[in-house]
Amino acid sequence: MKSLLFVPGSLRAASSSRATARALIARLEGKAETVTADTGVLPHYNADIADDPKVAAWIAQVAAADGVVFVTPEYNYSVPGVLKNAIDWASRPAYASVFKDKPCFIVSVSGGPLGGVRAQGHLKYILSGMLSRPFADKEILVTSANSKVEDGMLTDAAILDFAEESLTRFLGSL
Ligand SMILES: Cc1cc2nc3c(=O)[nH]c(=O)nc-3n(C[C@H](O)[C@H](O)[C@H](O)COP(=O)(O)O)c2cc1C
Repeated sequence: MKSLLFVPGSLRAASSSRATARALIARLEGKAETVTADTGVLPHYNADIADDPKVAAWIAQVAAADGVVFVTPEYNYSVPGVLKNAIDWASRPAYASVFKDKPCFIVSVSGGPLGGVRAQGHLKYILSGMLSRPFADKEILVTSANSKVEDGMLTDAAILDFAEESLTRFLGSL
């Protein structure tokens, strides 16, 4: 079975991104092994820090995964700083990091009607700068996400069906 590393872009307990990730992970039971990264434990990027065990564990998680699934909100038209910080840690050495050739899948989420589409575009651009492979498929945007969460899970069956179909194609490509 292929392994997927889920990387939520929000840290808050009631996060709709995390609720989306949980619902997608539930859909993948029996289809993929899933692990969820905890990017909130990472220090701010600092090239002088060379031996942080949490950074090493995060980089090892990316290296070990067959594919990385980002589920992120949009903050001020881009990706949240906590997510960019995690990506930056795993992006060295430039063009030869654990993200090089890594298949990546992106789901964006927002409280509003645009579903984080601008953050999704920025994230793809960032990933291309690391020579990783954002999955080319229909874009998955979760709109008005906060009103679609119950008991910590996204409840929008239509978008979950749509995302599950795309994730199944992603798994098939790994
Ligand atoms: C700092 C900040 C910036 C935000 N900027 C945007 C934005 O640019 N576009 C957007 O659609 N929503 C924006 N939002 C609203 C988020 O989409 C909404 O809060 C969402 O629920 C955050 O994701 P989460 O539920 O996973 O924490 C912003 C929220 C915060 C806290």
